[in-house]
Amino acid sequence: MKAADARVLLTGASGGIGQAMAQALRAAGAQVLGVGRADTAPAGMAWMRADLNSDAGPARVAAAAADWRANVVVQAAGVPGFGALDGVTPQQIEQVLRANLLAPMLLARALLPHLLRQPQAQLVFVGSALGRIGLPGFSVYGASKAGLHGFAEALRRELADTPVRVQILGPRSTRTGFNGAAVEAYNRATGTAMDAPQAVAAALLQLIESEAAERFVGFPERLAVRLNGALGARLDGSFAKHRRSLRTMPAGRAS
Ligand SMILES: NC(=O)c1ccc[n+]([C@@H]2O[C@H](COP(=O)([O-])OP(=O)(O)OC[C@H]3O[C@@H](n4cnc5c(N)ncnc54)[C@H](OP(=O)(O)O)[C@@H]3O)[C@@H](O)[C@H]2O)c1
Repeated sequence: MKAADARVLLTGASGGIGQAMAQALRAAGAQVLGVGRADTAPAGMAWMRADLNSDAGPARVAAAAADWRANVVVQAAGVPGFGALDGVTPQQIEQVLRANLLAPMLLARALLPHLLRQPQAQLVFVGSALGRIGLPGFSVYGASKAGLHGFAEALRRELADTPVRVQILGPRSTRTGFNGAAVEAYNRATGTAMDAPQAVAAALLQLIESEAAERFVGFPERLAVRLNGALGARLDGSFAKHRRSLRTMPAGRAS
């Protein structure tokens, strides 16, 4: 749909990518209701305080989305996870899967009755290139985003004859507080480019207006996503630099 017709419920609205999305959406004429755990709203958006990991969070947010008459939902809330698996605690694994996979699934489920009543609605999941390309150091984070992509793909097909379009946005590494010094060092060592959050926000606008099933951000990541899907294990030899870079980090580091 056209951005000017969109009433967007945006999770992760206080984050680096979320704030850029809110700004770009408003500039294009959309209304934005942000969701996050802070008491006060970032400038220029309606705000709802909610912890999406709490038991009551998804139902409360879904009720607010219905009251506010949201017709687009962008799920951008998420947490990072980086480090060799033997340095990651079981609690960290649970936290990453809860925030990046379970919470968006529960929120989507809670929102569906309202979205299905709209003449037209869009449900956008913010995934990651790392949900389609498994990189050393991102086994847990990549699993959470791969799970989200699998969920979104099945839901897209499940809802294909309804007014609800399900979409995936897949950013590559982006300069926000999400990435600590360890990821920045890894990116430098492996020649991985980082986008400004505004580039991800521009891709979101294009995704919403085009109603495409998915959009990955940045080259060569867009191509790598396709190649990895087609070639899988035949690409395993291409990641020696990534393994080396991971090994040079202090043991047990996860961020
Ligand atoms: N940055 C990257 O390199 C990159 C690359 C690909 C994909 N992504 C994805 O893009 C999305 C946004 O990332 P970002 O870089 O903007 O991260 P960020 O700056 O760290 O922001 C994360 C956002 O998620 C929210 N959040 C986390 N846990 C929450 C919870 N339990 N309840 C409610 N809100 C919660 C935070 O809200 P609070 O203010 O309440 O903490 C914050 O608004 C994430 O899904 C991430 O996986 C990021």
